Amino acid sequence: VKIIRDPAQMQRLSRLLKQAGSTIGFVPTMGALHLGHLRLIETARAKNKHLIVSIYVNPTQFGPQEDLRVYPRPLQRDLALCRGAGVDVLFHPASLYAEDHSTWVVEEKIAHGRCATTRPGHFRGVATVVLKLLNIVQPDRAYFGWKDAQQVEVIQRLVRDLAVPTQIIPLETVRDRDGLALSSRNQYLSPTERTQALALPLLLAGAIHQPSPVAWLRRTLPRCPGVKLDYVEKTNGRLCAAVWVGKTRLIDNLPCP
Ligand code: PAF
Repeated sequence: VKIIRDPAQMQRLSRLLKQAGSTIGFVPTMGALHLGHLRLIETARAKNKHLIVSIYVNPTQFGPQEDLRVYPRPLQRDLALCRGAGVDVLFHPASLYAEDHSTWVVEEKIAHGRCATTRPGHFRGVATVVLKLLNIVQPDRAYFGWKDAQQVEVIQRLVRDLAVPTQIIPLETVRDRDGLALSSRNQYLSPTERTQALALPLLLAGAIHQPSPVAWLRRTLPRCPGVKLDYVEKTNGRLCAAVWVGKTRLIDNLPCP
């Protein structure tokens, strides 16, 4: 794996690769790679001549009370996983923001409700960093997990509205054997909380067969021990929910006809 830290150098390499007729697949991440990321990486590996992964814990998508400082950063492990998965370039910038950075990408429709309610400013940070990463890496295809459904929808809209020449490819959520959707934040859960958190995937899976899935889930989730409901909503054919388990906020969703 070639590690590039300088955005200008990354952009130059991408331009050269494209000039040489190569296709670039891109998996943007905040590191702490798990099997969900690896599924994205494997798919991108199979479909593109060159594979670029970025690791950047983007400060602008964290709220002031959120976990930016403690977000896991196991770089050596991530690097070994990238090596094993056939990643060509790991783009790992120190910072993507100038001190006087003052330009933001704000999606004004999808970035309301659901996660945006509890995380004001989050999608502005995501949209800004993703557009910036796409401008630097210039990929033909970029891969995202459906676990962050609202993020996928915001990015699809941003790419369409701003005519970004990258195809956005969302892939289905990867789950642990017990059903919990993989997330770098799962490691915050204590063993008890981890068991309590299983209510989220279990009840989501039960809800999609109910006549009124949203109402059913809003009724049943708060009855589970240790679980505090944030939201349940059905949007774009997916039933989405967020809960608090202790201090950890977990989100999940399933396709729902
Ligand atoms: O999903 C993530 O890990 C992040 O939100 C992303 C897309 C890498 C932007 O920082």
